[in-house]
Amino acid sequence: MPSNRVEVMHGVNLDMLGGRDPEHYGGFTLSELQLTIGRFAKDLGLEAAFFQSNHEGEFVEHLHRLPERADAAIINAGAWTHYSWAIRDALEFSGVPAVEVHISDVSAREGWRKISVFDGLVIGRVYGKREQGYREALELIAGHLGDEA
Ligand code: DQA
Repeated sequence: MPSNRVEVMHGVNLDMLGGRDPEHYGGFTLSELQLTIGRFAKDLGLEAAFFQSNHEGEFVEHLHRLPERADAAIINAGAWTHYSWAIRDALEFSGVPAVEVHISDVSAREGWRKISVFDGLVIGRVYGKREQGYREALELIAGHLGDEA
């Protein structure tokens, strides 16, 4: 079986894309973003599946089950990125290689957005590139899975 399954996980408030500050998040909805990511993945020979939750426990439990369904993950945990050590622990537990993505440029916003609980755990971090950031993340994953094979 080829190692090409990528779980794309969006956390808290990302279901509200399309209505959030366009200066940071553009105008696309989560469904539109997921369609775009699905196309990027197909171009790269990857298979994307999607998950979003506003409930931290649900997000954690999805991470627990990740090894059964994915070879790699893209995680945009929204604000949880900046303080949820529970989500970091769950990703570490999963052992699934992950790239952290942010739509906005978290390095140029409030100080608290510069902190990431995923530091040192993820194989890559992409931010401030809107939809294109997900393509970059998928390219990193394709390279990583290719190296592992
Ligand atoms: C975000 C950045 C976070 O700081 C913020 O809380 C979000 C979205 C992004 O994609 O830019 O909800 O993860």
